[in-house]
Amino acid sequence: MSGATDVVVVGGGAIGCSVAYHAAKLGAQVVLVEAEQLGAGASGALAGMLSGQGELEPPGPMLELMLLGRERHRELSGELCESTGIDPGYVWDGALRTASDEESEELLAAAYHAQRSEGLRVEWLTGDEARMLEPALSPRVTAGLYIPDDGQVNPPQLVQALARGAVLHGARVQEATQVTGFLVRDGKVTGVRTTRGDISAGKVVLAGGAFSKALCEQLGIRLPIFPVRGQMLVSNLWPSPVKANVWGPGNLYIVPKRDGRVIIGATEEPDVYERRATLGGVADLSRTAIELVPKLAESLFVGAWSGLRPGAPTGPILGPVEKWEGLLIATGHFRNGVLLSIVTGEIIGALVLQRDPPVDISPFLYESHLTKGGC
Ligand code: GLY
Repeated sequence: MSGATDVVVVGGGAIGCSVAYHAAKLGAQVVLVEAEQLGAGASGALAGMLSGQGELEPPGPMLELMLLGRERHRELSGELCESTGIDPGYVWDGALRTASDEESEELLAAAYHAQRSEGLRVEWLTGDEARMLEPALSPRVTAGLYIPDDGQVNPPQLVQALARGAVLHGARVQEATQVTGFLVRDGKVTGVRTTRGDISAGKVVLAGGAFSKALCEQLGIRLPIFPVRGQMLVSNLWPSPVKANVWGPGNLYIVPKRDGRVIIGATEEPDVYERRATLGGVADLSRTAIELVPKLAESLFVGAWSGLRPGAPTGPILGPVEKWEGLLIATGHFRNGVLLSIVTGEIIGALVLQRDPPVDISPFLYESHLTKGGC
């Protein structure tokens, strides 16, 4: 493949597909290239929680972005389903963070006060109140934080819906195409080299998650990102023992899907490139989940997988890079890739078309990460 386009998007996960969708919808000519298949990376291996508040992010620009990210799913989900015929699986059943000891109660209490001070909907529950909401919870639970506005989507379906939506707006999607380097002229990035030919483009968007780092190094850009493996279990139990996304010790979560699957996640293993799950990961996740919701011992084991989150100590990296005209970065979303996918697509799509993004992106620019000591 060769040719010229307005923008080439590198990476066919939720972020890349959302950038392609938004840029194409705004009228740009878009080519999206993906090394494997759409959703083959982290996006295809996640539970799909929309944890605008459940991650307990403290107040600041990141929390604002996460809340906007959650809102954008609510707004776009129906439109995507209608226009593409693919349902992103959007569900709005809230989240319940639980505590089973003094330390985790203190953590939840601090988050409760911080979220209330931001005017967010959040309720403090005693252990018994938490069990009234989720009767399958263990008697060990001593307190809970109920977050009615968190929800979830089905990540593989979200990726397909965004890609189909992009194509309906004229984008071209090229799977099995690995980007090997950049086309550069007069200090400007003018396209990419791929295993299937060069593509000239007015803008290049790097949305390849943890894999964007190696490409950026070719341009002398050191992205402060690294892979963080998240292992996940899938089981089957109908009816699901929980209704909301239920969180337990060590950031364990149990996410009931509409099709009867119950997803249990996730480990956090920095600098691991292996995408398969381990016996240790499966054992830890299942033990902690069964302690929290004993009924899960009866659920059928379907499988285990893992995804490589793009970990970034100072948060997502979004937008242009001063020293390389033509380049836009969209990575480092760490635990929030699916949550932030729609709003990231909107931000980067606007920048491709030289319009104002919907939020102030200065805290997320590459250069801001340099000053925060992230690089
Ligand atoms: N979004 C939750 C996780 O990354 O495990």
